[in-house]
Amino acid sequence: MDIVYNSNSTMSKASENIRNFLITAHIDHGKSTLADRMLEITGTIEKRSMKPQFLDQLELERERGITIKMAPVRMVYRTRSFGPEAGFGLEDSRIVNKPNSRLQITKLASGPTDHILNLIDTPGHSDFAYEVSRALAAVEGAVLLVDATQGIQAQTLANFENARKNKLTIIGAVNKIDVATPEQIENSISELAELLTCGEEEILKVSGKTGDGAPELLEAIIERVPPPKSTSNIEPQTSDISRSLVFDSLYDEHKGVIAFIRVFNGEFKIDEDIYLIATDVSAKAKEIGTFSPKLKPTGILHEGEIGYIATGIKDPDKLKIGDTLLSGISHLTSNLQQFLLPGYKEPKPVVFVSFYPEESDDYDELKKALGKLHLTDSALVFDADFSEVLGRGFKGGFLGRLHFEITAERLAREFKINTVHSFPSVAYRVRRKARPGEKDFDWELITNPKDFPDDYADVEEPMTSVEILTPTKYLGNVLSLKQLFRFSKINTKNIGDRILITANLPLSDLIHDLDDKLKSVSEGFASLSYELSGYEQGDVAKLEVLVTEQVIPGLTRILPKKDIDRQARSTVEKLKELLPRQSYSQALQAASSGRIIARETIPAMQKLLGSFGKTGGDRTRKMKLWKKQQRGKKRLKERAETSQIKIPASVFKELLKK
Ligand code: GTP
Repeated sequence: MDIVYNSNSTMSKASENIRNFLITAHIDHGKSTLADRMLEITGTIEKRSMKPQFLDQLELERERGITIKMAPVRMVYRTRSFGPEAGFGLEDSRIVNKPNSRLQITKLASGPTDHILNLIDTPGHSDFAYEVSRALAAVEGAVLLVDATQGIQAQTLANFENARKNKLTIIGAVNKIDVATPEQIENSISELAELLTCGEEEILKVSGKTGDGAPELLEAIIERVPPPKSTSNIEPQTSDISRSLVFDSLYDEHKGVIAFIRVFNGEFKIDEDIYLIATDVSAKAKEIGTFSPKLKPTGILHEGEIGYIATGIKDPDKLKIGDTLLSGISHLTSNLQQFLLPGYKEPKPVVFVSFYPEESDDYDELKKALGKLHLTDSALVFDADFSEVLGRGFKGGFLGRLHFEITAERLAREFKINTVHSFPSVAYRVRRKARPGEKDFDWELITNPKDFPDDYADVEEPMTSVEILTPTKYLGNVLSLKQLFRFSKINTKNIGDRILITANLPLSDLIHDLDDKLKSVSEGFASLSYELSGYEQGDVAKLEVLVTEQVIPGLTRILPKKDIDRQARSTVEKLKELLPRQSYSQALQAASSGRIIARETIPAMQKLLGSFGKTGGDRTRKMKLWKKQQRGKKRLKERAETSQIKIPASVFKELLKK
């Protein structure tokens, strides 16, 4: 195929009426609820079909009120304030915007105009920042939402930075004005205006609950967010090759892999050849459509639009999120890379947990369930794992602790499989110690604590940059967390009447409950955001727990050396309380670097036989019996030492509680 370069590619006329935007905010500031009102106002969802947080499709998202997956939706909105027929009210726009109506872009002579609004609802928690980063690359505008009762939070700052880096038009809005006091609203507006360096009058006031201010926000999006970018800055330009960015995907048993795309140039039509550059896969567009928010076939996607293509591809690994999808060709033989749109880094797992079915019969079901979850959550990776104590299971890689917890919860709710898991760990870079005369070892990445060497030449651990925003009165409390967490390079600066603390922190500390501790020392007022910031030298060691001299792999941890003694003692003490007694005594030990640091013993269960001295009777006969019993106990103990030790799932769960 000849590639025609066209230096004067222009946007199609239709894309002038398209606005692509996302709503971004700190967790729980009301993105999904505001999106509900937008769906209603635009008639995308009829009021009677509306459920709270409509775009949160997963059962768990609804129940926990937390957005995990981004959700795109296309809405049609007739502007109220444009042209001589200005003054369209909410009711009017509902009449015009019938649900599921096919969009006709109607530009009445200088009258109101129908606009296509492609909204992507995004998660708020830092663990899911990669979801947000993908959405950022597919849109031109961002609504930065702040809960007026809370004011700016740590994640607001991070979201603002990301939107700014992506050169998006940012519209500031304060939410929950129905419950916030006038003073809170005023303060939040002033903070947000300062952050965005704009006038306070540019900040919109909304209530996701009542819908107040939502139509004005939609109008502001249309006015301020530019239509989809011209592709003139993306080289090379082609007149007959269409390009789109894959920003998410879904798997359907009948339609195969469904790519969520943003069209950057040209158009995509049903039955045409499509081609995925990164995986060198060609296919046919089996179905093309938009999000209503359910998949709605339209047969075509134009330049600037957001929609989906069902590819028929049955292997989910053949589609890489962030890849460029082309149409008009079935393959390219050379110069492939020049067609790639700027994508994004693939998310890398950073937290590793081994998990096992509570009922060992559930192993195959667990495997199937993980495969299914992977189809909707490409960031989830897992490999088979085996533990002498817990049996067959999987080692999973996650984007953060919350990502792991959500996965375990989804397994329990959606697939009815309860799991037992090991301590969450991070990936250490380790160079083993060479013996005299031996060549230096190479660096290796250790993700399972049981593989961590007792002795090493060098070790590096993953670090994060954290931002904590706290009211001044809790500054002392927040800084006191230094005793528990290895903060370094701490800086503070004032943001309005609050303090922003920036610091470095090992990721292993962060996943150890920092979020909860921060909330408790600040009565819920301090907030946290983080991003990964590379590897730094660490001073850590492996702590192993032994029961009757057998190492229990799920309880092995890598800890800062300064915490080893304390953790060793507390673990064996807890284990002593939790483990059921046996007919033999059980030695509980915690060891590090070949040294036993803590030790407890669970005595054997008392047998009915009383002591031979007190109750009288035939002393010789009792003595014989007692000796026999001791031999039995010894045999049992030996058996326990050489064979499987059963640790009840409940004990694991209790020990691993945060
Ligand atoms: P994540 O996706 O988990 O980050 O949350 P979110 O930002 O999507 O927030 P969500 O819409 O789930 O709202 C969080 C809570 O605030 C819910 O209990 C909502 O009912 C409530 N809420 C949202 N908007 C408003 C509002 O305008 N007024 C009042 N009173 N409550 C609101």
